[in-house]
Amino acid sequence: MGGPKAYGGKTPISAHQHMMISEELYDIRSQLLSAAIKEAGIDDELRKEWLAADATFKRALVKKSRDECSTSYPTQSILDFPKPL
Ligand code: HEM
Repeated sequence: MGGPKAYGGKTPISAHQHMMISEELYDIRSQLLSAAIKEAGIDDELRKEWLAADATFKRALVKKSRDECSTSYPTQSILDFPKPL
């Protein structure tokens, strides 16, 4: 969106390994993201480009069941919210 290309942090896969992200939840997030970009007055072509890049993460983050989640330390819990809306 015009900022510098600099990111330091977790990879998307490791940041979400303990989250039960269903396809439905992922799609709701995409709709909210699209609406937020529009609301911010960003050019429509850039919004589409951003959403297309964002969609490339879907396969890596969506899980079919809780069993596909994992934790990386003992006190970390699985985040699972079956009815997000
Ligand atoms: C429905 C889908 C998603 C949900 C529910 C979700 C939720 C979250 C939450 C709750 C955190 C904070 C984790 C923590 O601080 O312990 C987080 C972190 C993060 N998310 Fe997502 N996320 C989603 C999709 C995405 C996508 C598509 C990306 C792609 C870029 C992304 C990138 C990240 C990154 C990089 C972090 C870690 C930031 C850091 O701690 O360095 N997320 N996400």
